Amino acid sequence: MNQPILKLVKIKKDFFQANQKIEVIKSADLEIKKGEIVALIGPSGSGKTTLLQIAGLLDTPSSGQIFINDIDASCACDKTRTQLRKNHIGFVYQFHHLLPEFSAVENVALPLLIQGIEKNTALRKAEKTLQEVGLSDRLNHKPAELSGGQQQRVALARAVITRPSLILADEPTGNLDSELSQKIFELLRKLVKNYEIGCLVVTHNLELAKKTDRVVSIRDGIIA
Ligand SMILES: Nc1ncnc2c1ncn2[C@@H]1O[C@H](COP(=O)(O)OP(=O)(O)OP(=O)(O)O)[C@@H](O)[C@H]1O
Ligand SMILES: [Mg+2]
Repeated sequence: MNQPILKLVKIKKDFFQANQKIEVIKSADLEIKKGEIVALIGPSGSGKTTLLQIAGLLDTPSSGQIFINDIDASCACDKTRTQLRKNHIGFVYQFHHLLPEFSAVENVALPLLIQGIEKNTALRKAEKTLQEVGLSDRLNHKPAELSGGQQQRVALARAVITRPSLILADEPTGNLDSELSQKIFELLRKLVKNYEIGCLVVTHNLELAKKTDRVVSIRDGIIA
């Protein structure tokens, strides 16, 4: 049976600013299965990034539960949450967040090195993954020596190199023109399908959102 990779149950998130409570997420329930790409849309400030941070175990909800691969991460200790993040989740952001001093292949290898994989093995796998995203001729370029689209391809390669079960992408094409956006989005979709990863992708682009398996929207703190 295709168990959900990500399951959010009754997630609520309040922020406190100068003693005032802001209810950003009032109630969010969501399930994502293997090989499924789901778009998250909603107005600016509606809580999309907040929800992604919670799903990615980078922030904690005020209440509610998060299951990653059926493991209840909501009451897990920090060490378990870090392990879950390292082994199961890949992140992609609007800006690539590549390390400027490192080459493309080194940036992509980094998540494997963090997992304790031997350097040469990690670099070989990184090369292979860069080939898959069409960058075999840019292995030793540093981020500043790559175009915006190429930087985002490297970021996608870095997100999938550990073969995560889940990819969380926050406006991955927000910084690109429309033609490049299509290409990067298509690449993300291909990787998700090939590796049977579950993916939640935030986008403001409704044309791209339509190309996913399902669109969920968040408005006034509620997911519809
Ligand atoms: N650390 C924080 N402390 C207080 N308020 C916060 C914090 N983080 C986010 N917020 C508030 O929560 C709301 C949702 O923010 P969030 O970044 O999730 O929106 P978003 O939907 O991703 O918007 P955008 O489309 O502009 O990226 C905003 O009103 C923001 O001001
Ligand atoms: Mg955001």
